[in-house]
Amino acid sequence: MNVLGIETSCDETAAAVVGDGRQIRSNVVASQIELHQTHGGVVPELAARGHVRAIIPVVEAALAEAGLGRREIDAIAVTEGPGLAGSLLVGVNVAKTLAYVLGRPLVPVNHLEAHVYANWLSGPDEEPQTPPAFPLICLLVSGGHTELILMTGHGKYRHLGRTLDDAAGEAFDKGARLLGLGYPGGPAIQRAAAGGDASRFDLPRAWLGESYDFSFSGLKTALLRLVEPYRLPAVPGEQPSTGPFAEHRPPVYAPELPVADLAAAYQEAVVEVLAVKAVRAARDFGAKSLLLAGGVAANAALRHRIQTEVRTHFGEDELPVRFPPISLCTDNAAMVAGAAFFAIRRGAQAGWEADVHPRLPLVSDEGGTFGGRA
Ligand code: KG4
Ligand code: ZN
Repeated sequence: MNVLGIETSCDETAAAVVGDGRQIRSNVVASQIELHQTHGGVVPELAARGHVRAIIPVVEAALAEAGLGRREIDAIAVTEGPGLAGSLLVGVNVAKTLAYVLGRPLVPVNHLEAHVYANWLSGPDEEPQTPPAFPLICLLVSGGHTELILMTGHGKYRHLGRTLDDAAGEAFDKGARLLGLGYPGGPAIQRAAAGGDASRFDLPRAWLGESYDFSFSGLKTALLRLVEPYRLPAVPGEQPSTGPFAEHRPPVYAPELPVADLAAAYQEAVVEVLAVKAVRAARDFGAKSLLLAGGVAANAALRHRIQTEVRTHFGEDELPVRFPPISLCTDNAAMVAGAAFFAIRRGAQAGWEADVHPRLPLVSDEGGTFGGRA
C-alpha cells in the first residue's frame, strides 16, 4: 500500500510516499528556516503563507521522486494536529482535495504519533529493519513537546511524563537565543558546544523526585544569570536590556563570553535529565526497546548519553536503542505516511468534515489521552 503523506503543522512544508508503513519511496521537505531566521522563531502568519506557496510543488516532487502517478496512491494522509492552525489548514485542505478528486481514503494523523513512527521507516535503498519490539519506551522530544511514553502495541500509548514548562527543543531554542546563537537553537547549541568544557559551569537539573516529568525553565534562568555580566548595550550608551523592543533584539556580549563552555554545560544539563529518566522508565516497565523521536532526537549528545545510560543499567543487547536518521527526527511527511499505514489497519479514516486540531493530544486505542501545547 502506497500512502502519500502531507505535513504542514509548523514551519516545514513536506510530502512523502511510503510503502506499507516502512519503505520510504520519496521524502520532500521545503524548509522555511530562512523565512523565520530574522525573527528568531516561527511567525505563524508567515508560516501559513509559506505553506500555500510551497505545498503543490512539494506534493508534485514527492510523486515524481517516487516514480508514481497520482492514481497509484492508495491513501492520502495528513497531519491534523497538534500545530499552528493556519499552517495545518493548508495541508488538510490540499489532502482533502486530493482524496476527493482521486477517490482515495483521507487519513488524519496525529503529529506526535507520526514522530514515534519515524522509527519504523527505512530509506528507499535500505532493507527494512526489524520493527521495534513492544512494550517500548519512547522519549518524544521536539520544539513543542517533551513526552515520555510507554507503548504496548500499535496505537496503544500510556503517558508516563511530560514537561511542566518548556519543551526540550524550546529549552534549546531559548538557550541559543540567550547565547546569541540564533535559530533553530538545537543545532546551533550542538555546534557551539563542540570543544566546550561542560564541567566549567554547574547548571541545575530538575529531577522532580521519582516523577517522569521534566522542567527546563529553571535551567534557562540559570543560564541568563551566567550571561548577564557579559552583556553589552545593543545601542551604544543605552542600558544592555532596555530600549524599544529590547527583548526582541539579539543580545550583544563581550568577546570574553565563554560560549563553547556555556553551550556544552547547558546541553549536558538538558540531555542528562532526559536520558536518565528515559532509561529509568525502560527499567521500571520492562521495556524491550527504547525509542527516541522528534527534532531533539537529532542531538548527538542525547543519543550518546542514552546509549551510555543503557550500557550502565542493561546487559549487552538487552535493550536496543533506536533513533531515526536526523532527516526523519525533524518534521517530515514520511513519518506521517508511515503512521497512517498502521492507523489504516486499525480502521482510521476521516470524512469530508475533517478539520485541524491545533491542540490535539495523543489518543490511545485503550482510551487514555495525553498531550499538551501544540
Ligand atoms: O520535531 P521538530 O522538527 O518540530 C516540532 O514538532 O517541534 O523539532 C524542532 C526542535 C527545535 O526546537 C530544534 O531546536 C530542535 O528540535 N532540534 C535540536 C537539534 N536539531 C533540532 N535540538 C537539539 N539538538 C539538535 N541537533
Ligand atoms: Zn514535530
